[in-house]
Amino acid sequence: MSLAQTCPAIRRMAIITGGGDCPGLNAVIRAVAKDAFHCNIDVQGIEDGYLGLIENRFRQLQPQELSGILRRGGTILGSNNKANPSQFAVGKNPDGTPIFRDFTEDCLRHLRNRKIEAMVVIGGDGTMTSAANFASHGISVVGVPKTIDNDIQGTEITFGFQTAVDTATDALDKVRTTADSHHRAMVVEVMGRNAGWIALHAGVASGSDVILIPEIPFDIDAICETIHNRERQNKRSTILCVSEGARPRDGQQFVAKVDPTSPDPIRLGGVGKFVAEALEKRTGIESRYVVLGHVQRGGVPCPADRVLSTLLGHHAMMLLREGKVGRMVAVQNGRLTDVDLQEPAGRQRLVPVDHPLVSAARAVGTSFGD
Ligand code: F6P
Repeated sequence: MSLAQTCPAIRRMAIITGGGDCPGLNAVIRAVAKDAFHCNIDVQGIEDGYLGLIENRFRQLQPQELSGILRRGGTILGSNNKANPSQFAVGKNPDGTPIFRDFTEDCLRHLRNRKIEAMVVIGGDGTMTSAANFASHGISVVGVPKTIDNDIQGTEITFGFQTAVDTATDALDKVRTTADSHHRAMVVEVMGRNAGWIALHAGVASGSDVILIPEIPFDIDAICETIHNRERQNKRSTILCVSEGARPRDGQQFVAKVDPTSPDPIRLGGVGKFVAEALEKRTGIESRYVVLGHVQRGGVPCPADRVLSTLLGHHAMMLLREGKVGRMVAVQNGRLTDVDLQEPAGRQRLVPVDHPLVSAARAVGTSFGD
């Protein structure tokens, strides 16, 4: 059956990428827009996420813009992780707190004036919450979940995650060789917000000796004990893969920055330094730390993410064909499906402490610092 025979009844649609970027965004844009072009649908790209929607910045996507973007990191449309249309900071009060304004009506007007009949929204939980708000105002929206953190409720995998795991694993592998040379403990702090998925997967893939995740608070004495045990076994180094959201059993998460203008104001960071310094002080073993940071968000998507992005983009277009809107495409039990756009709102998909990968890691001797 040719695609043209089953085209959605749409003449013009928009695509937007919101929130923090991740590898695979361009592959989704490509999958959606190529399909739309086959159906002679005019595709408008909204620039810089919801900021562009608030500011009425649209551009018509051209077929030639899609060439070569399957393997390109970032997003050709740009993104923004501060622009929440219903609560956008427009200035500051005398006490420094932000002044917010609701731009929902402005955004709806821009979409209607431009005769946008459907919108594919690619983003994380915050972006999906705003998308659900537009859907409740009658806009035909389909969401595609993204994040390196893999923490979106309703889907068991998000694109960008596997590339981030590759990057973190590569860093952990590299750190091992230098740690071995110097008999050191090396701490690698990885991203993931409040979910330990990146640390868990990269930690297992690299054979890290200690994995610290937010879901399992750690005890520094237990980690010291692991290091001493390794010394007794004449191990040359200890590698610790630490999630930025990890916290001590008797303490709080480490906050690097608070941005009150952002829908998600807390920026985590600092636990890697804390752990490395505490270990060196208590064990006398030289310890160093590395914060991988945004390296995990950049670069080319791995093949698995290119495939997943293409599948999710295609599924979004299939939902538009069926007129099934107000939905987010998802993967559940390994199969493509869709869930209500509200599903991810205000919730994060955390690592269950009895997850099979946690058990497998424990079984090969990995410590979770508990
Ligand atoms: O949600 C993706 C993510 O990279 C998190 O892992 C990290 O905590 C956060 O975004 C960093 O945000 P920013 O790009 O604003 O520093």
